[in-house]
Amino acid sequence: MNAFANENAVTDAAGAAPAFPIPAGVFAETVTDVQHYTDTLFRFRMTRPAGFRFRSGEFVMIGLPNADKPVYRAYSIASPSWDEELEFFSIKVPNGPLTEHLQKIKVGDTVLMRKKSTGTLVHDALLPGKRLYLFSTGTGIAPFASIIRDPETYDKFETVILTQTCRTTAELAYGKELVAAIRADELMSEFVGDKLHLHATATRDGETRGERITTLIESGRLFEDLGLPPLDPDTDRAMICGSMEMLKDTAALMEKFGLVEGSNAQPATYVVERAFVG
Ligand SMILES: Cc1cc2nc3c(=O)[nH]c(=O)nc-3n(C[C@H](O)[C@H](O)[C@H](O)COP(=O)(O)OP(=O)(O)OC[C@H]3O[C@@H](n4cnc5c(N)ncnc54)[C@H](O)[C@@H]3O)c2cc1C
Ligand SMILES: NC(=O)c1ccc[n+]([C@@H]2O[C@H](COP(=O)([O-])OP(=O)(O)OC[C@H]3O[C@@H](n4cnc5c(N)ncnc54)[C@H](OP(=O)(O)O)[C@@H]3O)[C@@H](O)[C@H]2O)c1
Repeated sequence: MNAFANENAVTDAAGAAPAFPIPAGVFAETVTDVQHYTDTLFRFRMTRPAGFRFRSGEFVMIGLPNADKPVYRAYSIASPSWDEELEFFSIKVPNGPLTEHLQKIKVGDTVLMRKKSTGTLVHDALLPGKRLYLFSTGTGIAPFASIIRDPETYDKFETVILTQTCRTTAELAYGKELVAAIRADELMSEFVGDKLHLHATATRDGETRGERITTLIESGRLFEDLGLPPLDPDTDRAMICGSMEMLKDTAALMEKFGLVEGSNAQPATYVVERAFVG
């Protein structure tokens, strides 16, 4: 059969763009919601394929049906595993092969998703503990948006601390709205209770220009702000998601406190994952 005669071929929202076939072996899902936060950040939601299962914190490969061979990029699923839709929180990179197009999606458009999810920011990669620290910068908050909406997180931990550091205050909006929405939601607030804490800082603007998370950990300011003791490998677990530099520096601090890096094969006391390449 001629690939272009594929009955699954799609057009853009206006129905005007040339139709490209849906590649074999991928899901083609429909965008249900788009929200822009800044000129560099947006989130979108889309339908969830029937039978698609994942663990909260995992990532998938997504693309657009805008070429014969679409560009796919890794994206953390920001919604929890119980959600009937899938949510993503995205950067807009100027001239970025995927995001220069992805940032223009509208409700009703099609997004492609490869069928397998994977990742290390999952409960299975951590040993049991008392407190869970989720350290993120920028879009690194995405996998934690999933974890903090998962009841398993609160079954496993007494206290959950989400930190997000961005350059500007405007970039913190997604995380702040998310935590406010959890607290306002009858069902989620029942299992979250008062266990969830958000520590959000902007490093390059705001009345009280904040410090990097690494500086806040090293100085002990983070623990003072939270009213919690310093990191202890007996009780504390951590997940880290940000740029390569942020991962390197934050992981080094975890090791200094005696935490050990874990994986799906060998659970331990902290885990890391890149939020982007570069
Ligand atoms: C495991 C994993 C999970 C990821 N999850 C997400 C996610 O949930 N949300 C998301 O927006 N991106 C995520 N990314 C990055 C994503 O895969 C793409 O790089 C991003 O969508 C840009 O794609 P692009 O083709 O437009 O540009 P690319 O060619 O991929 O990137 C161009 C440059 O833009 C910068 N950049 C790329 N992504 C980011 C980012 N997220 N934040 C800041 N700078 C960036 C880097 O300097 C990069 O070299 C993830 C990457 C990995 C490895
Ligand atoms: N976001 C923007 O407004 C912007 C503007 C122009 C270009 N870019 C480019 O886009 C890419 C990503 O930008 P981004 O702002 O999403 O991510 P980013 O540069 O990684 O910065 C996000 C936050 O992480 C902090 N950070 C950076 N390195 C760290 C480390 N090693 N340890 C701990 N904290 C660290 C930053 O603090 P500091 O402020 O102290 O660095 C900032 O608060 C970069 O290539 C950047 O050059 C972004």
